[in-house]
Amino acid sequence: MRAVRIHEFGGPEVLKLDDIERPVPAPDEVLVKVYASGINPVDWVMRNGAMRSFLTLPLTLGCDAAGIVEEIGSQVTSFQPGDAVYGVANFFSNGTYAEYCAAKATQFAPKPKGLSFTQAAGVPLAALTAWTGLFEYGKLRAGQRVLIQGASGGVGSFAVQFAKAKGAYVIGTASAQNLAYLTQIGADEVMDYTSQNVADLVHEMDVVLEASPLRDNKERLKAVRLLKEGGILVSVNTDLPFSDEVTEALSAKQARGELAANQPQREWLEEIAQLIDEGRVQVWVSQVFPLEEVAQAHRQSESWHVRGKLVLEVVNQAQAL
Ligand SMILES: NC(=O)c1ccc[n+]([C@@H]2O[C@H](COP(=O)([O-])OP(=O)(O)OC[C@H]3O[C@@H](n4cnc5c(N)ncnc54)[C@H](OP(=O)(O)O)[C@@H]3O)[C@@H](O)[C@H]2O)c1
Repeated sequence: MRAVRIHEFGGPEVLKLDDIERPVPAPDEVLVKVYASGINPVDWVMRNGAMRSFLTLPLTLGCDAAGIVEEIGSQVTSFQPGDAVYGVANFFSNGTYAEYCAAKATQFAPKPKGLSFTQAAGVPLAALTAWTGLFEYGKLRAGQRVLIQGASGGVGSFAVQFAKAKGAYVIGTASAQNLAYLTQIGADEVMDYTSQNVADLVHEMDVVLEASPLRDNKERLKAVRLLKEGGILVSVNTDLPFSDEVTEALSAKQARGELAANQPQREWLEEIAQLIDEGRVQVWVSQVFPLEEVAQAHRQSESWHVRGKLVLEVVNQAQAL
């Protein structure tokens, strides 16, 4: 099968299109024929070698997949060959930039019916991260106020829509060119973090979700000031611990700080698929690349200014339908 692998860590030039054996699913895994794979920043973070101590080379990159179940492991009862699915690969293992991917069946769910494989591939990791951050760590409930930083990106776009779908009041930050987009996906208020002082304009938030790539504890201190007493600051940037200053500021207002690593849960993927099929959540794919152009897709993602998602088509969409 064709697979994009790295044999060494480095820039986009280390991405190689190889011809390798298909993986064999373990008893608790499904083998998915991958039609499309989403691009996530963690893909190029792995490629660069920042997580090298967890990785074995050569490695097939890619977290997100949408495709068709080809085979099931001996213990799998939740899927049958031929099912259309979407989900995430086993983390730190061979991934989805390939014609086939073997991964735990519990990390997949039926694909949203109204989406193409290409659109569905843009959902899993970003949506699960938004869901984990808002609801598992942020405990967001109907009627609460949430500020979403980085609201136009992959994680942020889903976070805005999930929070609205659950009945929260949503304020989103983005660059000027993305403010109309935030309104279109349902944000109640939008702010340009490049020209407006968000810290002066926003108060009494129940939850602040740091879904921007900015890793800066001074910015987090400002976010704590926006929280109401007992509020929750959730960051998806788990690689930057909260500084002592941030922790002290949080405890001074009986607030909590949470670092939210995404959790791949089938029930959440099912609930997300339902929201999409009900038309309450849109999937914005800003660019689609064929597998051969993966290096270009990585360069684009590394700009940190992608609206919604970038997707790699492993199988040409016209052939997939
Ligand atoms: N914990 C986890 O499991 C997990 C999983 C996935 C991602 N993440 C992390 O979540 C963050 C977002 O990921 P993503 O996939 O959504 O990335 P993305 O699609 O590239 O989106 C990033 C967004 O951040 C905004 N942004 C860029 N620079 C900014 C700055 N200096 N200040 C504020 N906002 C800025 C951009 O908005 P504009 O273009 O409008 O400026 C962009 O839309 C990343 O740090 C990523 O590492 C964590």
